[in-house]
Amino acid sequence: MSQPTVNLTETVHSAIDAHRHERGPLLVILQEVQERLGYVPPAAVPLIARELNLSRADVHGVLTFYHDLRTEPPGRTTLSLCRAEACQAVGAEALVAQVEEALGVKTGQTAADGSVTVNQVFCLGNCALGPSALVGGRLHGRLDRDRVVALVRAEAS
Ligand code: FES
Repeated sequence: MSQPTVNLTETVHSAIDAHRHERGPLLVILQEVQERLGYVPPAAVPLIARELNLSRADVHGVLTFYHDLRTEPPGRTTLSLCRAEACQAVGAEALVAQVEEALGVKTGQTAADGSVTVNQVFCLGNCALGPSALVGGRLHGRLDRDRVVALVRAEAS
């Protein structure tokens, strides 16, 4: 995977400066670093720990606790499959398994070729048209395996 081209130290310090005076700024700083870089590189942990006077374990603990925070670069596109109740009732669990197999990547991970990151979500407000998913930020419904794979390939190409 390629490293971010922007300056890591500069980005982290900018995020810290923007939020250090807030109450409990750690989470929002991590979120901002991810927004700017696409993920939170492990090298950001000691920088943040030092600036906030926390231990590296404290920062690492928060970074790994929140599933929305990534420690590796995301794929070229993101697939977020809905696993909430209404979508489950129309086959979401089977769809997740089929899509994981077809794309060769497990939920929560990024494909080895960097094409797609697969996430799970719990309701996209499209319950009547499930199974639902976001592909590259766009909402789709009444999905099956072939359609999801085609949408992902189109987005990631
Ligand atoms: S349960 Fe899947 S969109 Fe609501």
